[in-house]
Amino acid sequence: MPILHKISANGSLFSARSGAVLLDAALLQGVEFPHDCRAGRCGTCLTRVKKGITLGGETGEPRTVYACQARVLSDLKVEFDDLPPPQTVGAQVTGMTDLAQDVVELQVRPDGPMPILPGQYCRFTFRGFPTRAYSPTVSMTGETQAESFRLQIQRVPGGQVSTNLGERICSGHRLTIEGPFGTAFHRPGRSERLVLVARGTGFAPILAVADAALRENFQRDMVVIAASRRIEELYMPAALGRLSTAPNASVVATVEQPQGQSRLVRTGPVEDHLPCLTRGDIVYVAGGRRFVEGVANLARAVGAQVHFDAFESNGSENPGGGFLEKFAKTAKSVVFGAAPAAANGNSVGRPTINAPPRSQDHRWDRGGSAPDAA
Ligand code: FES
Repeated sequence: MPILHKISANGSLFSARSGAVLLDAALLQGVEFPHDCRAGRCGTCLTRVKKGITLGGETGEPRTVYACQARVLSDLKVEFDDLPPPQTVGAQVTGMTDLAQDVVELQVRPDGPMPILPGQYCRFTFRGFPTRAYSPTVSMTGETQAESFRLQIQRVPGGQVSTNLGERICSGHRLTIEGPFGTAFHRPGRSERLVLVARGTGFAPILAVADAALRENFQRDMVVIAASRRIEELYMPAALGRLSTAPNASVVATVEQPQGQSRLVRTGPVEDHLPCLTRGDIVYVAGGRRFVEGVANLARAVGAQVHFDAFESNGSENPGGGFLEKFAKTAKSVVFGAAPAAANGNSVGRPTINAPPRSQDHRWDRGGSAPDAA
């Protein structure tokens, strides 16, 4: 006779055999439980274990597990964040703007309401093309356009979707949007310092979180770090300049490859430019997998809260001088120059974050495992 355990999840009651996967048990009994990949990758099923014992699915946070990987060993009381329920809606491409040579901003209007929290992501299937995951974000310049999603997409050579943007995918193209998913969303009502770290088009969800946090409290302590491989790939000067107008926001742009074009932009790996993280910080990070894991490990090491979703890292190309001009005009409290690690309060002995080559980043698509994620 199998042992049945009683589970309470956000007030819903169900049962699970001893050893059953928590998420499977919930879904089998019709309990709504947030999930996406069911493989321990996306973080959508992040669950806090308030009472009882589970095995597996550890996240690095105390008593927080991935329900899709955690097995039930006792009666449980668990909680997860109340998120907008995933749905599938039709949509239409309404606009397309080049942000840089290799990065395009796509505007997409869903046919109906589709609630999404800042920082979450959805899966987009352009008619006739494979599905891709992107994080809707806000305008780089702060203008609002209700009912529309903005996506920042890198054009990847050979990419089945991205190379067709502006070609076979133009204004009027139909698509479906499934979502939202992910747990790296802005939590309102908090006052701790935010440390927001992005590489490539991982900047999209980071911008969405920063924008939401500043709309809630323009005085919020915040450090925003936008990293890329080369200076030509920094495509977000307008947004960085806008964020830097907040009185307690510091904005850092950094590139991994040495550059002599601008003192406005730092050089070196991102860990050289992180502020001294503390237990009280809330860290969001988005970019390629190894980049995200590296920053997340640094945050966890000091006990900071860290939020991230698996994200397809997109590099970028940009028009060069235009960027520097715009950055210089808009940057107000930007941290200039390539400051040494000690000046940034970096602790000694931090592990190096090995940002993988772009081609490897793209293999790690949070919407699936397609080799060509773009
Ligand atoms: S559904 Fe559990 S991590 Fe994605």
